[in-house]
Amino acid sequence: MAGYITDDKRKVTTQRFKEMKKNGEKISMLTSYDYTIATIVDGAGIDGILIGDSASNVMAGHSTTLPITIDQMIYHASCVVRAVKRALVVCDMPFGSYQVNATEGITNAIRIMKESGCDALKLEGGIEIIETVRKIVAAGIPVMGHLGLTPQSINKFGTYTVRAKEDAEAEKLISDAHALEEAGCFAITLEKIPAHLATRLSEELNIPTIGIGAGNGTDGQILVIQDMLGMNKGFTPRFLRRYADIHSVMTDAIGNYIKDVKNKDFPNEKEEY
Ligand code: KIV
Repeated sequence: MAGYITDDKRKVTTQRFKEMKKNGEKISMLTSYDYTIATIVDGAGIDGILIGDSASNVMAGHSTTLPITIDQMIYHASCVVRAVKRALVVCDMPFGSYQVNATEGITNAIRIMKESGCDALKLEGGIEIIETVRKIVAAGIPVMGHLGLTPQSINKFGTYTVRAKEDAEAEKLISDAHALEEAGCFAITLEKIPAHLATRLSEELNIPTIGIGAGNGTDGQILVIQDMLGMNKGFTPRFLRRYADIHSVMTDAIGNYIKDVKNKDFPNEKEEY
């Protein structure tokens, strides 16, 4: 099957995300970092595409999301924007681009919007970045919050394990989520938190929650495209469902090509000029 699984080809907006929550329609999101993949993801009918700072891991091979720069995020985001006709395009603000103060945050937010052409930005954190979120929203830029496991703070946590299992951390996450909604976020990503907590928050908030490793009670789901396509053989967290084994498909195809070249089978007469 190819092409849209929905007949609704209207461009998805942040407003549509809110309507989908109200109507009980789950929101589908995936990451993309380049033109070719984004063309396929958008063409399949996804609701939202995130240019995640996970590009630092899956595209550049870093062990954390910390090294990726604003310029690199703008490069990935502009490649995706050129491909997308329908999905809402959200770009991560990278580590260091909004944590110093609200003025720097808004300056960098405006730059990413102008130079990438994306529709919205995502920032990690709660109360500690609330002034920055408020100002970015006031400038007319839609903001998606991100709570729970926030990979830009990996050096503080020391591990990528499930967050907010203890009461104190869960209480902080709940007040962070409400603060983000009050500051004007249009949605919040909830990463790797207990399902009951994500469900409770999704019921309490008026804005949609998008879960990754947060159970089935959120208003939508997001996965990293390379992970759900089975391109990263070694990455097998409990929350990940693999929809294909592209690692094997590619390895077989490349192996066949190598065999054909070595055997002088490729190219044949029909493949030459
Ligand atoms: O960077 C990313 O890919 C993300 C998703 C995991 C939500 O933030």
